[in-house]
Amino acid sequence: MRRVLGKTVLEVSPGEFAAFRGGYSALIVDIGTGDGKHAWELAREQPDALVVGLDANPDRLRERARKAAAASARGGLPNLVYLWASVERFPALLTGISELHILMPWGSLLEAVVRPDPAVLAALARACAPGARFLVTVNLHPWHPEVPEVVGLPEPGPASLEGTLGEAYAAAGWTVEESGYLDPEAIAALRTSWTSRLGSSRREFEVLGFSGRIGSP
Ligand SMILES: C[S@@+](CC[C@H](N)C(=O)[O-])C[C@H]1O[C@@H](n2cnc3c(N)ncnc32)[C@H](O)[C@@H]1O
Repeated sequence: MRRVLGKTVLEVSPGEFAAFRGGYSALIVDIGTGDGKHAWELAREQPDALVVGLDANPDRLRERARKAAAASARGGLPNLVYLWASVERFPALLTGISELHILMPWGSLLEAVVRPDPAVLAALARACAPGARFLVTVNLHPWHPEVPEVVGLPEPGPASLEGTLGEAYAAAGWTVEESGYLDPEAIAALRTSWTSRLGSSRREFEVLGFSGRIGSP
């Protein structure tokens, strides 16, 4: 498992990770963490939880990973780890996850969430503790008008989450309990860098959020 520490990337062994993980009661994973801001805020708020931010592209998270790895006295966060990994090759060491976040995905992560990809959803479900909470938010801007990246990908919405999309999630063990378009306050509360990029030109119905539980507690 590749841990990003700034410019340096370190291979973490199963033993090292188990020793580290053992000190925390909860494990929160932010997939497609981007520059890692959301994971950083979670780790600051919940010092008893180990927070893992992972992304297929390590470059944007290097700076925050360097700060997180500093000593606590110098502003570091000992309960925050950034990994270089893709959702398709989800790190096997991440098990017993208590909360999963996927915010504003794009590329193959967007496709896995929206199509959805049953293999990816099932693998993530296996990595979670029974009854783990999840939160997914999708920026719908690429569908208005449709850009090449989303051609062939149906626009998700509350109706599809109550229909075929929700059924596909349920088949993989994910129960969608709430869904809806996020208002500006809810978007700001996500505290990601990406949401602030949506800017003041944001239209109503631009961000879909859905949440629920994976497996049964
Ligand atoms: C629009 S950014 C959102 C970043 C962050 N979640 C936020 O809200 O600010 C989408 C992120 O998904 C990552 N991503 C795309 N495909 C991925 C995959 N297959 N596995 C993991 N991360 C992926 C990209 O590298 C990018 O950092």
